[in-house]
Amino acid sequence: MTTIRLDAVTEQDPGSLPAELGFGLHFADRMFSQRYNPAQGWHDASIGPYRPFAMDPAAQVFHNGQMVFDGTKAYRRDDGSINLFRVERNAERFNRSAERMGMPTVPADFHVEAIEKLVSLAHRWVPHAPNTTLYIRPVLVATEKALAIRAPKECLHFIILSPVSPYFAGGFAPVAVYVSHEYVRAVRGGTGEAKTPGNYAGSIAATEIAISKGYQQVLWLDAVERRYVDEVGAMNIAFLYEGKHLRTPALSGAILHGVTRDSVLTLAKDLGLTTAEERIDFHEVLADIQSGRITEVFGMGTGAVIAPVARLGYEGKDILINGGEPGPVARRLFDELTGIQYGRLPDRHGWTRTLEV
Ligand SMILES: Cc1ncc(COP(=O)(O)O)c(C=O)c1O
Repeated sequence: MTTIRLDAVTEQDPGSLPAELGFGLHFADRMFSQRYNPAQGWHDASIGPYRPFAMDPAAQVFHNGQMVFDGTKAYRRDDGSINLFRVERNAERFNRSAERMGMPTVPADFHVEAIEKLVSLAHRWVPHAPNTTLYIRPVLVATEKALAIRAPKECLHFIILSPVSPYFAGGFAPVAVYVSHEYVRAVRGGTGEAKTPGNYAGSIAATEIAISKGYQQVLWLDAVERRYVDEVGAMNIAFLYEGKHLRTPALSGAILHGVTRDSVLTLAKDLGLTTAEERIDFHEVLADIQSGRITEVFGMGTGAVIAPVARLGYEGKDILINGGEPGPVARRLFDELTGIQYGRLPDRHGWTRTLEV
């Protein structure tokens, strides 16, 4: 049984952070790390100061991109304690990503324990302002000094923490989305459902095109027919029909198994909506927006929670959804989900664990 060593940390004052935190710009004063090799397995687990690493220039990650990460959040409750939300699902997804990249997995219970201990020790970094959170970023890196394209024999697992404002300034704010026809993100059988940096690096050129045209995010179509909807930016996507039926693309292998997506599907059913996870033809979507059958479109992800899509840009045309305004169902789902996450609403599904600090 691995134990986590606690190293001395010179504490910093989170009180000196700016009121507007941004996303992923500031980091807590301590981090978790452990190392792997086949002889020792996972070892040297510690929580110590946030610090830079020294890595060999020949480390596999720099050449093959062998790395995975995940993202979850800690929420400050009104009574001062802290909630984690479905963190065990992130630990499981981290391992699925690791397996896809030929990397060693981290026992999920231990991973969750490391997150709980780290957040408890760094509890002062969980911000108090409305809609702010402590973003938790676990990472797995192939550190073996070898230019070989094969499974690594040495890895580093670390977890860092970043106090953040909502992903999109303004919190529940409508976003404009550009439908990419130049580029695709992922193909079934590829690495699209793994949270590995190459997927994100490969998305940046398209995102820059979107931004230069006045949009914030990219809607990705499937890589083979460029016809079926995959995801939007780093979010899953949902389409609401006539205010009562929610459709989202099925987990095809090309898209991420979003924790928010799964939670929204459950909450939607609780609210009396019907739901479907299926292949969604983008041309049908366009027709259904234009005919008014689609009443709302929104992205779902840990960063933004629910991001209503106000406008779609496709082949030089702009298509407004719900007159460019966020819809009532997206709002309701946002309020329900954040209510559970911050402990303001009852947690009927047992999704949260509360850390007493
Ligand atoms: C590509 C992609 N899709 C979807 C999501 C949403 O997943 P989750 O709700 O677990 O944050 C993310 C964020 O992690 C993502 O990076």
